[in-house]
Amino acid sequence: MEDWYARGEKAFLKAYGRYDVVLEKGEGVYLYDTQGRAYLDFYSGIGVNSLGYGYPDYVKALQQQVATLMHVSNYFYTPVAIEAAEAVKKATQLEGVFFCNSGTEATEGALKLARKYYYLKHGKADSEIISFRHSFHGRSTGSVKLTGNPAYQEAFGPLIEGVRYADLNDIESVKSLINERTAAIIVEPVQGEGGVYPCDKTFMKQLRALCDEHDICLILDEVQCGMGRTGTIMTYFQYDILPDIVCLAKGIGCGIPVGAFVANEKWAAAMQPGDHGSTYGGNPLACAAVKTVFDILEKDHILAHVQDVSQYLIQCLDELVDEFDNVVEHRGLGLMQGLVLKTEAKPVVKELLNEGVIVVTAGSNVVRMLPPLIIEKEHVDELMTKLRKVLKKS
Ligand SMILES: Cc1ncc(COP(=O)(O)O)c(C=O)c1O
Repeated sequence: MEDWYARGEKAFLKAYGRYDVVLEKGEGVYLYDTQGRAYLDFYSGIGVNSLGYGYPDYVKALQQQVATLMHVSNYFYTPVAIEAAEAVKKATQLEGVFFCNSGTEATEGALKLARKYYYLKHGKADSEIISFRHSFHGRSTGSVKLTGNPAYQEAFGPLIEGVRYADLNDIESVKSLINERTAAIIVEPVQGEGGVYPCDKTFMKQLRALCDEHDICLILDEVQCGMGRTGTIMTYFQYDILPDIVCLAKGIGCGIPVGAFVANEKWAAAMQPGDHGSTYGGNPLACAAVKTVFDILEKDHILAHVQDVSQYLIQCLDELVDEFDNVVEHRGLGLMQGLVLKTEAKPVVKELLNEGVIVVTAGSNVVRMLPPLIIEKEHVDELMTKLRKVLKKS
């Protein structure tokens, strides 16, 4: 039998600590390795594959687009890109869309737009941005600086200047950083990578009010929590606020690499031709994915399904908290849940993989669940059976 893992270890830069499992195909909410072994997917390629694998309408739309037109550059409009942008505008209730290729590019673009607005207003480029500890916004030298985790930054300086970090759900820590140079506050409504920490409702409203008071751009990073994952199309609708800019990626393409940042009228007006660009960003193939994802979410009532099945998942996680000493609590919204352990999460994630379930860590002690939005209760039951087996040994 081919030793794919050994070949991979020789072929790639060692940027990732990869599992010794080589995945070959997906079907529904299961992945299959090169030996034909099935894995229940409770991570969706880190929150990307919301429609699972081989969703018929999605596959059909992309096949058609590949055969019709894949790329033209942003010097031209295409009908499919216009339809995708209109769908994003409708879903976000914001005004102007910029398509890019990843979450990192979305946060990087949002950062540039907030800085541009500040520059036009003040005539100087010395703005500051407030971000949060435990946040994650990407890996480029701009977005990694927005990421409130020194471990990701240390070796790569000098990074961009002017980023300051506050504590999530502590409005006083934010207020203490605001000054006349503050151009933006960037926050994930639910911090993903950092440990699955949702923003409190009051805190989010206070952030909105602070930004309004000081003419600061409120950037919500919904790269992980957006696109229906928490039960509403954008998580911010659960907070009864609108951002000035929202960042999207992952579930907006469901497998095709695509991201977007979307601004309201006021901030959108700061963008002028030549300010920003991307060769691939929003090409017809990516936009066919975006448009189809929105169509499917609506036509197949996926949000109602997320609300229903996530209630069941939460109920089952509650039972684990009562049952196991090693389980402290669970946190999250909808189908973005973290099981907080007293011990390290990595061994539990690894054991679950051996049992045929894929989950992912968040922080050091959180088992993060980001299943496809189409999972059924029977899949939650399968997860619970295997989790119980693993937790008994932990
Ligand atoms: C909230 C958030 N922002 C940005 C990113 C970066 O996205 P990407 O890896 O697509 O560049 C991620 C990735 O996990 C994320 O979770």
